[in-house]
Amino acid sequence: MAMLELTNLCKSFGDLRAVDDLSLTIETGEVFGLLGPNGAGKTTTIHMATGLLVPDSGTVVLNMQGSPADPEVRANIGVAPQALSLYEELTGQENLDFFGSLQGLSGKGLAQRVEASLEFVSLADRRKDLVKSYSGGMKRRLNIAVALIHEPRIVLLDEPTVGVDPQSRNAIFDNILELKAHGVTVVYTTHYMEEAEKLCDRVAIMDNGKILALDSLPGLINAHGGQSVVILEGPDGEKRIETDHPLDEIVKRKDQSDIASFRVERPDLERVFLNLTGRQLRD
Ligand SMILES: Nc1ncnc2c1ncn2[C@@H]1O[C@H](COP(=O)(O)OP(=O)(O)O)[C@@H](O)[C@H]1O
Ligand SMILES: [Mg+2]
Repeated sequence: MAMLELTNLCKSFGDLRAVDDLSLTIETGEVFGLLGPNGAGKTTTIHMATGLLVPDSGTVVLNMQGSPADPEVRANIGVAPQALSLYEELTGQENLDFFGSLQGLSGKGLAQRVEASLEFVSLADRRKDLVKSYSGGMKRRLNIAVALIHEPRIVLLDEPTVGVDPQSRNAIFDNILELKAHGVTVVYTTHYMEEAEKLCDRVAIMDNGKILALDSLPGLINAHGGQSVVILEGPDGEKRIETDHPLDEIVKRKDQSDIASFRVERPDLERVFLNLTGRQLRD
């Protein structure tokens, strides 16, 4: 069942087409990765999907109910924006109290959700500290807690691991897997390949406002990854052999005593990306 349906979305800023006739269906319960270099149009897409930005044309349907411009529909969404949306002069707990009340929570219900959200992102022991004293990773985790305060059915995380230390990054990975286990749909944008490889059920590769490919990771690699490469190290340096059957290539040469080592490079998401866009990811 579709949780989020984007159909023929367009958005321009002046002469620049940030999102160019983009259609995309996110299924209920999946972790969906939207991958692309800076400027690809990921954030603009997220903003239209969550009702923060009105598309020039095209439609957004959430949870088969309607547009996120409708507050009742929007209540199903949580969003952790790329630009942190936190009050630095308030404590972590005060931020959650505030954003929870904006979502219509109050009293005991609010207190329970604040508690659970702080625990979820492992900030319970820092709840009374001002956000301005938090590390980058702690702020990102609080930003995620804010997105989850009202227990949304779908959460959109825009570059949740930028500027984050490895510990917080792993904690955020665990958070995403736990959300998935609870049936929450997760849309995740990143420009880090290895994150998408670890976390996502399906990945869309986007550039210049368009989706270039969309599939499961094995599907993308099959279609766009190209061949494996066997790398032989011999007396004249490295030799690279492109092949669909790396083991055969190695077995063929098993008695060649001048080969010092074999290495096999399998196609990965990075290769898919390079093959599709012809360029390296940029920060
Ligand atoms: N408010 C805006 N005004 C003008 N240009 C914008 C605005 N927001 C985004 N853009 C431009 O639109 C393009 C897509 O941006 P964005 O959606 O932020 O990409 P991403 O999130 O993939 O890095 C970029 O070229 C960016 O500079
Ligand atoms: Mg962005």
